[in-house]
Amino acid sequence: MVNSPAGAARSTTPVAGTAKTARVSGGAGCLAAEAGARARPRSVTTWEGWRDFVGAPVPVPPAPGAEPRGPEERLVYHSRFVVVRTPAIDALAKNVRTLMILGRHQDVTARPGLIVTGPAAAGKTTALLQVGRACHLAHTARGGAGGGEDGGEGVPVAYVLVPPAATAKALAAEFARYLGVPITDRMTQAQITNAVCHVYGEAGVRLVMIDEIHRLNPRTTAGAETADLLKDLTERIGATFVYAGIDVAATPLFAGVRGAQLAGRACLVECGAFPARVGGAEPFGDLVAAMENALDLRAHRAGTLPRLVSYLHARTAGRIGSLARLVRQAAIGAILDGTERITRGGLDAVRIDHLAEEHHRPRNPTRARATPARATARRVP
Ligand SMILES: Nc1ncnc2c1ncn2[C@@H]1O[C@H](COP(=O)(O)OP(=O)(O)O)[C@@H](O)[C@H]1O
Ligand SMILES: [Mg+2]
Repeated sequence: MVNSPAGAARSTTPVAGTAKTARVSGGAGCLAAEAGARARPRSVTTWEGWRDFVGAPVPVPPAPGAEPRGPEERLVYHSRFVVVRTPAIDALAKNVRTLMILGRHQDVTARPGLIVTGPAAAGKTTALLQVGRACHLAHTARGGAGGGEDGGEGVPVAYVLVPPAATAKALAAEFARYLGVPITDRMTQAQITNAVCHVYGEAGVRLVMIDEIHRLNPRTTAGAETADLLKDLTERIGATFVYAGIDVAATPLFAGVRGAQLAGRACLVECGAFPARVGGAEPFGDLVAAMENALDLRAHRAGTLPRLVSYLHARTAGRIGSLARLVRQAAIGAILDGTERITRGGLDAVRIDHLAEEHHRPRNPTRARATPARATARRVP
């Protein structure tokens, strides 16, 4: 049975105004933050972990005029950092909302779904989690009408990872694990699926998010069975399904009969690298400016990062994951060495992920821009 969904999201705190980022012990040393003084969070692939994620205070940048935060607190802040509201998150949020309404009364056949696709470290999982959180919070704000079997708030959202080399039974077991549905080795896939569908229905799950969908290859027998299971689940669980995976549009996931089952019901949300320019807009520059605005450094000069936008684009290939890593690591370095500002030298000293470093060609970056980009990318509220 569902592990007491009632009261699950009661601890949910609205993000705005929650200035505390994490609990850190007092003292000047940085080791507590370094060692991860917090207990290891529970995985979001279980209902308890998901509830923790939704209810946890979101890191917020320093508010103007607020009491300055100490180095330890700022180290923790930069290690977590803000989520920037990107066009992909906006598109996903809008589509999920629309499709959930569209599918609300579609009880017999599968509801239309979405597939978030893009390269690695492009922010697919982040987008999924943010949109799932927003859906959960909206559900809770409405009082969780139509919730769980115990009359509680129910479980509005489920988040499941496709296991490596997925078999249908293993994926069904992942669905079971999320809600603590008891299963045994002796149970057949059909039995697990039946139990899952029953419990998900009772719990009132409305949005199912399935990540790492690229692990599924319908050209293999196991992959084809898993694709069939997904089709079965979409028809039997009255929820909107959202999938995310690496460049799935170009994979066998969309090919053949099984591919058509999935692709025929889902539309794509592209979550790619940020281009330097699109028409008159500068998406990557906006992203850089939003990240700079979120820094909590004592001596950082505003406008430094937007002036380095060409360099940053070349180093990160426009990928949000690489940029976030570079900026956060440089910020942490600046706190640790006491300079409290990010400079070109500080960025040069940071080694980021292999993919981005490989891509980076150390030729002369194009001329620095005179004006900083507009920070239209917003932090996710
Ligand atoms: N919207 C965002 N705002 C800030 N940082 C982000 C955002 N999206 C992704 N990131 C950063 O990029 C990293 C990789 O993102 P992730 O969502 O795991 O990518 P993917 O699932 O596409 O591989 C995250 O750990 C985070 O640091
Ligand atoms: Mg991911």
